Amino acid sequence: MNAKITWLGHATFLVDTGDHRVLVDPFLDDNPSATVKAADVECDHILVTHGHFDHIADCVPIATRTGATVVANFEICEWLKKQGVSEDKVSPLNVGGRASFAFGRMGATIAHHGSGLPDGSYGGVASGFVMRLGTARVYFAGDTSLFLDMKLIGVRPLELAVLPIGDRFTMGPVDAIEAVKLLSPHRVVPCHYNTWQPIEQDPHDWAGKVTQQTGAYPVVLDPGGSLEL
Ligand code: NI
Ligand code: MN
Repeated sequence: MNAKITWLGHATFLVDTGDHRVLVDPFLDDNPSATVKAADVECDHILVTHGHFDHIADCVPIATRTGATVVANFEICEWLKKQGVSEDKVSPLNVGGRASFAFGRMGATIAHHGSGLPDGSYGGVASGFVMRLGTARVYFAGDTSLFLDMKLIGVRPLELAVLPIGDRFTMGPVDAIEAVKLLSPHRVVPCHYNTWQPIEQDPHDWAGKVTQQTGAYPVVLDPGGSLEL
């Protein structure tokens, strides 16, 4: 089957490959836009781009309940072990590194953003992820500003780029258009907007500009909505 990617709200996604379920940046129970609760999510891997609460809040309960393997930077993995995630269920992946996982090969990319953990612990540096699902490359930018090295991420064909457009804490709609130009993905999905008032955006207005100014197809999802690769 083709992988199915579901937006659970904010920056939380569930990637279902048919054989594996990969949860990205779990933030559900306190997420006003989430369509499911943490107790109702099944997955075998959890990816965490950085330590901010709106990306990691439900990681520990979901990881301990499901036995999922958590992939995050070294500092976050060390912190997760202190929160009760067992040592054999964390899999460190730092910026620049690539590794093979049960769902496919994946690398961690730079992201210009903080990564402090909810209790104030040091969380290393933020990242994005590029995963290979079958023949498709998929880029989750995580929380980041626009950066010129996105050009390198787009050197090889990207089926899908998932980009924040909320502004204030990440790049906003204008810079996200430039990101699409650098990445040249086939399709692009916006996220990290409309969860709260400070990151309110019009995704359909943005999608219109993507269509006008780039060669990518914008896919605007509602929380709970999904697309197939
Ligand atoms: Ni953040
Ligand atoms: Mn965030």
